[in-house]
Amino acid sequence: MNNNNSSIGIDAIAFHGPRCYVDMAELATARGIDPAKYQKGLGQLKMAVATPCEDTVTMAAQAGRKALEKFGIDASEIGMLIVGTETGIDHSKPTAVYVHELLDLSQNCRTFETKHACYGATAGMTSAIDWIAAGRARGKKALVIASDIARYGIGTPGEPTQGAGAVAMVISNNARLVAIDSQTIGDYTRQVMDFWRPLYSKYAFTDGHYSIECYLDALTGAWEAARENAGDDTRFTIDNIEACFYHVPFTAMARKAHFRHYEIDFSMNETGENLSDEQAQQRIISSYQKRVSPWLSINAEVGNIYTGSLFLAMMDYLRQNKNKGDANISLFSYGSGCGASYFIASVHPDAAQFARLCDPSEELNKRRKLSVDEYESVLKDTENTDLHENESLDPARWDLLENLLYLGTRDHQRMYVSN
Ligand code: CAA
Repeated sequence: MNNNNSSIGIDAIAFHGPRCYVDMAELATARGIDPAKYQKGLGQLKMAVATPCEDTVTMAAQAGRKALEKFGIDASEIGMLIVGTETGIDHSKPTAVYVHELLDLSQNCRTFETKHACYGATAGMTSAIDWIAAGRARGKKALVIASDIARYGIGTPGEPTQGAGAVAMVISNNARLVAIDSQTIGDYTRQVMDFWRPLYSKYAFTDGHYSIECYLDALTGAWEAARENAGDDTRFTIDNIEACFYHVPFTAMARKAHFRHYEIDFSMNETGENLSDEQAQQRIISSYQKRVSPWLSINAEVGNIYTGSLFLAMMDYLRQNKNKGDANISLFSYGSGCGASYFIASVHPDAAQFARLCDPSEELNKRRKLSVDEYESVLKDTENTDLHENESLDPARWDLLENLLYLGTRDHQRMYVSN
């Protein structure tokens, strides 16, 4: 890696998702839609559903707790906590400060929330890297957590692209998993109305097809900026990248993204070969099958978790990683509205020894399937869970086994239970 901070990056990672899910084929049938549209057209098989007792805070705290415990990191080692979320629980008070208490972090830990739709955690992560590189961390690590509940509402076109979950990452100067090259990150910003959620709404508004265009334009813009920053650095050519990760609102979006990535890379690195359209198409498909599709299976089972979706795809790679030796990977983060970054990272040669710790499949396999009727009633119940008039929530209603739950509000204050 060509920078002076070569091993700053992801030292630990963990996922936490809700207890329940809905099957996409059943959801499609209930909506009078061919299941193949959701399963193949969008590439989604299951959709995580957060019950009223699971919110941005509980998911973030559970993911953070797992990242620390699994990778043997003590809470006292954390000097900065950032929670990136689209699904904040208060106009003023950051989600992060609740998580700070639930994780028993030091009072000298710098703590805040970042928001930019699905880009919030990436903004947090790059800030954490800069904090370490600048020497402000004084040997401490940063805990960056992406936590979101994607809600578009019953019967909307966005409904099959909902989901919920949190990914927690510890950022350190001696990263055991992935070192991020922060020197060449390419950034992109443009004011667009592709997806937004006014303060009064629990549901996102989106101009769905336009949002796909905005995403792809941002990919081009961020990639071009990164290429410019990188000069003649050969790591930025797709053929030299082992795995490409994208923001994944639904897995078919990663396919569209890789096709665009490949096209712009190909036009930049003209080899002089005279390929037929069919040959060119075949190359793109095999590049996608090699570098992208093997790492989309967790996203297909969870749905869109907004700011954590990109990192969930990377977790899928890390849990399957059997490599010895450095591997070059690319990450593209997109947040509607819009902001994006493209960056290159390198997987630690010994990261494979942590593959089992990066695997959330045991937890996913234990989830409870909701019927479509149950899922709809969860969504409706959740609309009112943070209104003051609400009575306390009863976790038993959802068979919740979790030891950290949201129990409603009292005196306009959110109540959490943690055992
Ligand atoms: N069998 C197989 N495939 C089928 C099918 C069938 N019977 N019927 C349709 N399809 C395919 C379509 O051909 C299409 O594939 P292509 O895009 O490759 O052509 C795919 O299924 C989806 O079909 P439509 O485009 O007709 O679906 P739609 O109009 O109902 O909406 C959507 C799709 C726009 C993504 C909508 O779900 C949506 O608005 N989602 C929320 C917004 C979103 O996720 N945007 C992504 C970019 S923005 C972003 O990434 C930030 C973020 O997280 C929100």
